[in-house]
Amino acid sequence: MIRLPEDKPIKPKKEPKYYFIYGEPMSGKTFFASYFPHVLDINTDNNASQSRAPSIQLLTDENGQPVYDIIGRLDEIIKLISKSTFKTIVIDTIEDVVSAVTKQITDSANEKYITDGKLAYGKGSSMVKKVIEDLVLELKSLPVNVIWISREEEQNDIAAGTSKIVPALKTKYYNIVAGNCDLVIRTSKTGDGQNTTYYRQIKSRRSNYIPQDITNPQVRNLLASCMGMFTREQMEELKNKKEK
Ligand SMILES: Nc1ncnc2c1ncn2[C@@H]1O[C@H](COP(=O)(O)OP(=O)(O)OP(=O)(O)O)[C@@H](O)[C@H]1O
Ligand SMILES: [Mg+2]
Repeated sequence: MIRLPEDKPIKPKKEPKYYFIYGEPMSGKTFFASYFPHVLDINTDNNASQSRAPSIQLLTDENGQPVYDIIGRLDEIIKLISKSTFKTIVIDTIEDVVSAVTKQITDSANEKYITDGKLAYGKGSSMVKKVIEDLVLELKSLPVNVIWISREEEQNDIAAGTSKIVPALKTKYYNIVAGNCDLVIRTSKTGDGQNTTYYRQIKSRRSNYIPQDITNPQVRNLLASCMGMFTREQMEELKNKKEK
């Protein structure tokens, strides 16, 4: 039976659960995500075996053969997650998932491009968008953190002579995915080999989180390592507490 809540103001529970992480190749996206609690990395690029997180390949099956029914495999994986002990699901990378879903829909319609023939006039694109929207909602219905990973690219405005770094995920999908996220984080690195330094920076946030909002200490520490997440005073307080 549905029961309405009591008609009185409540203290909002501010805790990030959904993350969008983007950055250049090898800048530490998968590495950062792998330190979240009980991670499962749903991987598209076959390099997950080099990460500490358990992973499942989306585009190839258990025998290393290409998967044609990506939408079906995603469905199956989500059903398995709901019965598992995983607490953080990583989609690594979301733009590859979009490309694979686009290919499946194009192939099923026997067309060459998502804008051709039966798929013209936005029909094909709407079908891809619906799959991604459903994926976001299905993952949100599970009691897990979700981390969406994307590479980045440089966007040039030739007329203005400017350029900016943006997630490689196309804007229409970015708006669906990041619109359902609490934090957007960009990873980057400088130097090479022994002298490499890895950075993480908060680019967007749903609320002004304070350390006390993050109940899991492991997640709190991870977020504290992102520039701009907490203020200097909050970081000092966090450090003093740890030292006591
Ligand atoms: N914070 C870090 N501290 C130490 N080493 C790191 C850190 N982040 C990444 N690395 C190292 O850099 C390597 C590449 O990182 P990772 O695989 O996470 O990059 P990525 O951004 O996911 O790259 P890709 O886009 O190619 O998947 C890791 O194997 C790890 O050795
Ligand atoms: Mg990676």
